[in-house]
Amino acid sequence: MDMSSWKWLPNFILLLCLINLVSIVKSQFPTQIFFHYECLDNGNYTSNSMYKTNLDTVLSSVSPNIDTNGFYNSSMGKNSDRVNVIALCRADLQPSQCRDYVKNATVEILKKCPNQKQAVFWHEFCMVRYSNEPILGILANFPNESGHSGQNVTNHDAFYQELNVLLDSLSAYAASSSSPKKYAAATRDALGNWTIYAFEQCTPDITSEECGDCLTKSAQQIRECCDGAKRS
Ligand SMILES: *[C@@H]1O[C@H](CO)[C@@H](O)[C@H](O)[C@H]1NC(C)=O
Ligand SMILES: *[C@@H]1O[C@H](CO)[C@@H](O)[C@H](O)[C@H]1NC(C)=O
Ligand SMILES: *[C@@H]1O[C@H](CO)[C@@H](O)[C@H](O)[C@H]1NC(C)=O
Ligand SMILES: *[C@@H]1O[C@H](CO)[C@@H](O)[C@H](O)[C@H]1NC(C)=O
Ligand SMILES: *[C@@H]1O[C@H](CO)[C@@H](O)[C@H](O)[C@H]1NC(C)=O
Ligand SMILES: *[C@@H]1O[C@H](CO)[C@@H](O)[C@H](O)[C@H]1NC(C)=O
Repeated sequence: MDMSSWKWLPNFILLLCLINLVSIVKSQFPTQIFFHYECLDNGNYTSNSMYKTNLDTVLSSVSPNIDTNGFYNSSMGKNSDRVNVIALCRADLQPSQCRDYVKNATVEILKKCPNQKQAVFWHEFCMVRYSNEPILGILANFPNESGHSGQNVTNHDAFYQELNVLLDSLSAYAASSSSPKKYAAATRDALGNWTIYAFEQCTPDITSEECGDCLTKSAQQIRECCDGAKRS
């Protein structure tokens, strides 16, 4: 495996509907984390503004307060100075791991997006997002990103047949979950000699229907982006 190649996205295929996550993951954690972020062009703030003060305060509250389900939302300020934040950890993390990843993300997001009023930062283990507009309970399909390992499957048709079965059943399971951790994970043997690993998760603030729609769309995007690719 070529760890230095950016093409080796990670050892998984990742797609994130901003507040929703679908990935095909290996059971082992990767040694390298691939960060993604987007600074949205919806207005900027200055370093001595009230927005900046509120943003710093609200971001510093994320890691200490994120709940045991790995979700957090908070808002601060009034009118044009109001900042809304949400954060999500991958459902299988320990609370201490979640806090560490989120702490890192709340610092990194400001480095990546130093003056934009809206930004999102995510990787395989967590997501942090803030905005001057309401975000809690609102499904966002953008920004999103998908990618593949650069390696191809040999038994293409059989692989996609099994992958579709796996992703569809996980979407249904994650979306209908009554737990605040809306996720599902499973493996499926593809014909041949290997196993497909998959993991899907939504934030708990959107409806089951929205979660299901997002995951179904995301699975479709994975098929389109990565047709023929196999995770390493
Ligand atoms: C906000 O700042 C970025 C650079 O940091 C700039 O590219 C963008 O045009 C600015 N947007 C507005 C609305 O001023
Ligand atoms: C966040 O984690 C990355 C990767 O582990 C590391 O390179 C970076 O320095 C960390 N940033 C902070 C602010 O801790
Ligand atoms: C995988 O398939 C694509 C398209 O069919 C091709 O361009 C690419 O070189 C292949 N990659 C490998 C590692 O064989
Ligand atoms: C796995 O299957 C592929 C073809 O499907 C074959 O080329 C490869 O040698 C097999 N590997 C092992 C370890 O059996
Ligand atoms: C968002 O935060 C409020 C205030 O702390 C809390 O009452 C509410 O349960 C949170 N919503 C979710 C979906 O976690
Ligand atoms: C990703 O964003 C693009 C562009 O906004 C959109 O067309 C697409 O439907 C989004 N993908 C998903 C899975 O929502």
